[in-house]
Amino acid sequence: MIKFYQETNLPLEMHKVRIVQKLNLIPLEERKKALEQAGFNTFLLKNRDVFLDMLTDSGTNAMSDKQLAAMMEADDSYAGSETFFKLTAKLQEVFGTKYFLPAHQGRACEHILAKVFVKPGSFVPMNYHFTTTKSHIMLCGGEVLELFIDEALAVTSTCLFKGNLDVKKLEQVIKDKKAENIAFVRMEAGTNLIGGQPFSLANAKEVFALCKKHGILTVLDASLLADNLYFIKMREQACFDMSILEITKALISQFDIVYFSGRKLGCAKGGGICVNDDNLYLKMRELIPLYEGFLTYGGMSTREMEAMTVGLTETMDLDMISQGPKMIEFMVNELQSRGIPVVTPAGGLGCHLDASTFMAHLPKKEYQSASLVAALFLVSGCRGMERGTLSEIRDANGNDVFANMELVRLALPRRVFTLSQVKFVIDRLCWLYDHRQLIGGLRFVDEPKILRFFFGTLEPTSDWVNQLVSQFKIDFQDSL
Ligand code: F0G
Repeated sequence: MIKFYQETNLPLEMHKVRIVQKLNLIPLEERKKALEQAGFNTFLLKNRDVFLDMLTDSGTNAMSDKQLAAMMEADDSYAGSETFFKLTAKLQEVFGTKYFLPAHQGRACEHILAKVFVKPGSFVPMNYHFTTTKSHIMLCGGEVLELFIDEALAVTSTCLFKGNLDVKKLEQVIKDKKAENIAFVRMEAGTNLIGGQPFSLANAKEVFALCKKHGILTVLDASLLADNLYFIKMREQACFDMSILEITKALISQFDIVYFSGRKLGCAKGGGICVNDDNLYLKMRELIPLYEGFLTYGGMSTREMEAMTVGLTETMDLDMISQGPKMIEFMVNELQSRGIPVVTPAGGLGCHLDASTFMAHLPKKEYQSASLVAALFLVSGCRGMERGTLSEIRDANGNDVFANMELVRLALPRRVFTLSQVKFVIDRLCWLYDHRQLIGGLRFVDEPKILRFFFGTLEPTSDWVNQLVSQFKIDFQDSL
């Protein structure tokens, strides 16, 4: 990797920008109006009102020239499309898996996996859940068991693999629940909800060995595989001399089934399930035409499939997969050096603010992360995502379940933002942190029962928005 003479740890882009999209930073009063209309839920903002969209990296990564060029070659046949065979061959080359079942995105794969393998009363141990994964498993009557290591939830830590699954806990679960009641063990690469934290190849090997001993299926959610591969290469001593392709093959071979959201992995839109075993393949195959589309497109546009094939090749390039994590590391280090609480070590996907510390003055029941992300939009036009209590589900008595980690995620989609844009967000966060006492709470106005964070609308519990706006006007004068 390229070193600087004077600068330390500046993320250096190994690509140039050739197509641009105009951005607008609408004035403060308009941002306030937009936020009110969105019910203080950043999912409900219109993108035309957003300056820097750091909501997610899902489907928002920049494509390369080669991906765009490949899209022109798409074979649109309903059945037997050449595009499908090209993508399958690429997955065979990169993952070493035999079969590919296409699906329209990651959660569609989860739907199929849950339908086929999860029965009422079955258990699904995993390193950590993702929202859609958990919902699909629960809808099929299964129960998610989270077997994360103790360090996983430590906001500031030096643990390099916070996404590891606790193998001792898994041994105990197998003893308590019995192997036949375990639908599968799921490992999530680049563990999303705890701050994009990786697991190690050594951990995957241990989990696989234990599962094999007991005849339990292993499933990898490879949506955030690119980040996880980068961290294995950079942090796991046994892998320092391995190429990204070698690490990929070694990792994938620890799993019976691998699925992914192509909206993240491969920088295109779609997803799919990869498997070697004939019987497992046949079990899942029939659901593809039923829920997704015919077996050779699975609900994806063939143009996106062509782009995905190229995107998978690009994912084997260390320059390409390091861009995201290095930019995130820069942002995390800068914020931390200014005393702003962030999740460490820096993970993949985005920079994660620790809202429980940032917003320590606010009770948890007033949604610390949701308030912080709303306030950030107000002062910067930057849209982040609440990843805390609002993203949880109420318990049987209707009480809020406080999230293990109260985070605001500022996603950095791959190859999209420049360093000065990241510095702008850091600057506004500094102002917000200095005035954090002004940020008040939120309460629900309309609260949907399922996935409430997507559609729920809220309102401030006090006059804090006006107070924050007044202070901002004083400090920023006519540059609002
Ligand atoms: N698994 C993980 C680890 C994910 O991060 C996501 C999506 C999915 C599965 C579902 O994939 O969106 O293609 O259906 N994460 C997005 C996010 C939504 O913003 O983090 P999908």
